Amino acid sequence: MSFKLSCFSALLILGGASAILQYQAKPLITAKNSKFGPFIEGTSVDKEGKVYAVNYGNNSTLPTLGYVTPKQSLFYEDTQTPGTAFNGIRFGIKEAHHDYKVAYAADYINHRVVKVKVDSRGKVTGKTHCSNPKFIQPNDITLARNGRIYLSGMRFQKDTQVGDGDIWLCTKEGKSRRLDVLGRTNGIELSPNDQYLYVSEAVDRNSTTVSNKIWRYRVHSVTGSISHKTLFFDFATVNTAHLNIDGIRSDVKGNLFVVRHGGQEVLKISPKGKILASIKVSFTYPTNIELAGKHGTTLHIVGRCGIDTPDGQGVGCVDTWENDAPGRAWSLLQ
Ligand SMILES: *[C@@H]1O[C@H](CO)[C@@H](O)[C@H](O)[C@H]1NC(C)=O
Ligand SMILES: *[C@@H]1O[C@H](CO)[C@@H](O)[C@H](O)[C@H]1NC(C)=O
Ligand SMILES: *[C@@H]1O[C@H](CO)[C@@H](O)[C@H](O)[C@H]1NC(C)=O
Repeated sequence: MSFKLSCFSALLILGGASAILQYQAKPLITAKNSKFGPFIEGTSVDKEGKVYAVNYGNNSTLPTLGYVTPKQSLFYEDTQTPGTAFNGIRFGIKEAHHDYKVAYAADYINHRVVKVKVDSRGKVTGKTHCSNPKFIQPNDITLARNGRIYLSGMRFQKDTQVGDGDIWLCTKEGKSRRLDVLGRTNGIELSPNDQYLYVSEAVDRNSTTVSNKIWRYRVHSVTGSISHKTLFFDFATVNTAHLNIDGIRSDVKGNLFVVRHGGQEVLKISPKGKILASIKVSFTYPTNIELAGKHGTTLHIVGRCGIDTPDGQGVGCVDTWENDAPGRAWSLLQ
């Protein structure tokens, strides 16, 4: 089924007791004016609500982070470390007694998280914050209020095994500790009060994706460890187990926005695991999302442009959609 609706209209689809609101996101950056490559990912927001993503440039400029808003431009490029390929970004809370702004970026080739600093004169520098050759990637990251970073990673195999995905913790001091192993893990996000950690898991059988789930863990506030793993959402229940979960972001109400890579859609899911809304995107392969803008309420959805563009081809697109509450990441920085 496809829905073509204006961004201000919504249609109620009544199925039993559940009602899923249907929306269409609005194009912000299109194939015509994009300065991003097709590996655009890691949507992130800073204190001012500006939006960032990786792969500013073309399909061979992977060590770059770019501004999506207010105006497309280069934010940071690692010219020192061979092979650097950024995927996830998060902005950090300003450190006490320092006048600089901080971002963390996941480099999935060099198995590290880079700390990017912007000093008071606007000079941007990067330095490895946390690294471990045992990290599978990392793919995406989420940042706790106390400065701890949670990382996910994945390895594609014909037949996924436990251990093709991992969850790691990087402490504020840059020490790493493995928390769990699963099938392929990708989207990772904390709840607004850092009480829960959500992580996606996908499983392939004979090179076909057969399962996509979101798990929820309880986070121990003192040690940062995770426990009480429970199934939060299984996409088999909505017949899309074959579509990969990509980025996950929370709003301040604890609703999750979940990217359906290949599904041309972002789903909004309540903290109780109920699908509240389907946000259709103008491109088939969204990768990541973030709530940003002046009030932290504008969902920015990034991914490679087009409907059937092959992997690595074309350029990066961005759509937007207006939420009724600000994002967790934005509000943490205020
Ligand atoms: C990609 O961009 C870089 C940096 O601007 C440039 O050197 C390179 O030639 C470009 N590559 C392609 C394939 O367009
Ligand atoms: C795996 O997929 C290949 C290609 O589609 C097919 O030929 C083969 O029979 C499959 N093997 C199993 C065990 O299902
Ligand atoms: C980048 O794009 C060019 C031109 O479309 C293509 O030939 C090349 O395979 C792409 N590179 C990657 C890494 O996907």
